[in-house]
Amino acid sequence: MDLPEPFDLILFGATGDLAMRKLLPALFLRDRAGQLPAAGRIIATGQTPLSREEFLTRIYNRLNEHRRIETLEDQDWQRFADRIEFLSIDAERSESFAHLSNTLTHPAADQRSRIFYLAVAPRHFVPLCEQLNAAGLVTPKSRVVLEKPLGHDLESAQAISERIGSIFSEDAIYRIDHYLGKETVQNLIALRFGNMLFEPLWRRDWIRDVQISVAEQIGVDGRAAFYDRTGALRDMVQNHLLQLLCIIAMEPPTSIEADAVRDEKLKVLRALRPLEGQQALRHTVRGQYRSGAINGEPVRGYQDEEGVVSGSHTETFVALRAEVANWRWAGVPFYLRTGKRLQERSAEIVINFRDVPHSIFHVTYGAGRPNRLVIRLQPDEGVRLYLMAKTPGDRMRLRPVALNLDFAQTFQEAQEDAYERLLMDVLRGRLTLFMRRDELYAAWCWIDPIITAWEEAGDAPKPYTAGTWGPAASSALLGRDDASWQEEG
Ligand code: BG6
Repeated sequence: MDLPEPFDLILFGATGDLAMRKLLPALFLRDRAGQLPAAGRIIATGQTPLSREEFLTRIYNRLNEHRRIETLEDQDWQRFADRIEFLSIDAERSESFAHLSNTLTHPAADQRSRIFYLAVAPRHFVPLCEQLNAAGLVTPKSRVVLEKPLGHDLESAQAISERIGSIFSEDAIYRIDHYLGKETVQNLIALRFGNMLFEPLWRRDWIRDVQISVAEQIGVDGRAAFYDRTGALRDMVQNHLLQLLCIIAMEPPTSIEADAVRDEKLKVLRALRPLEGQQALRHTVRGQYRSGAINGEPVRGYQDEEGVVSGSHTETFVALRAEVANWRWAGVPFYLRTGKRLQERSAEIVINFRDVPHSIFHVTYGAGRPNRLVIRLQPDEGVRLYLMAKTPGDRMRLRPVALNLDFAQTFQEAQEDAYERLLMDVLRGRLTLFMRRDELYAAWCWIDPIITAWEEAGDAPKPYTAGTWGPAASSALLGRDDASWQEEG
């Protein structure tokens, strides 16, 4: 097996939610699967003053509750625990870094990759990198992993990137977008570039529209302080949804190597038709949830969530109509939608093909419906291709039926979580699934004018009841093109 080289992984924010819920369990699972080299250390750091034992107890409890770790065997736990050290670090104080430096000084240090994973609020990214640099801890074998959001607009993203870029070279910077690590997103790449079937159809002549919808049932879940300053456009569209769009719309890369893929994604981002001023207002819908019910349980409205500024105009829902202005896609609408407190938790990509040019099945026999390819990211990952078939009986009635690929049924192997894949890629030094700096800039370049148009309009987002599919204007957006969201179709 292709094991990563020995490493020292320094995890900042190790007592935080992301590290406890995702990163440490992901590392444990890969360790249990025998994918970590014996010489791989995890130096967990956090502001909370904890002893190593206290920290280990926290992880142990988390792992015990983890849905993918059915039984936590002693030997697996022991092996994992032996890798872990804990350091209390105050990112503002240089003494803390001297302490870290001592921990990182050992005879084999030069042969190891040194990975700084910054699972901390973005305002700490630059100061932390500068402290690491000042303490002489950034070696030629260092990598840094950054969680989104990287900036809140193009200017701030550039400021952060330039300062971090003066310390780490571009190919040592891993910008995480965890959607790219999802199994079905990987499969989307396999579907597009591992099959001949779709390529000739994958263009404006055959595709009527594309829908990318990421619906959540959760609300702001204790993250109001962050979310209220961010909103759905920056939190989800700027990164996850645009990345999915890129994978659907990009030209076939010449290889799966990082830059071959990232070059193609970048071209898509640059080809997005700008949405500015009135165009932005016309082609986007902002919503904010009011109280309602999710799975029959009452939930409060966004304005009543703890930590939300009263009268906040932050959007918890966005729907928009984008276009990729190039030969392959000109004129094909890409509808993007995401929101919190929606009816279901589901993430889906729907490719609606054009209708047949001439139907021999007249209305009396059942109307024609376009073919549709549905790629379901979560839950119940799978791919469905809807075709028209005749229903049994003596009359010529057609109805859509699905060729259904259910990943859980087809592949019995346990699936990896996105963070397991992405962490292993960081350890192996594979950059394909991470955003390059120019992609980040291109995404902000497209998002910024939409935010400006919203700010200039100054009105409140449209209210929607929690537990629905968002404001009515979202259906109207597609209705103008005589289209509808898949759930309503
Ligand atoms: C994060 C957003 O990037 O993605 C969250 O900050 C969101 O607001 C989450 O809930 C959704 O991720 P997933 O994997 O649960 O769909």
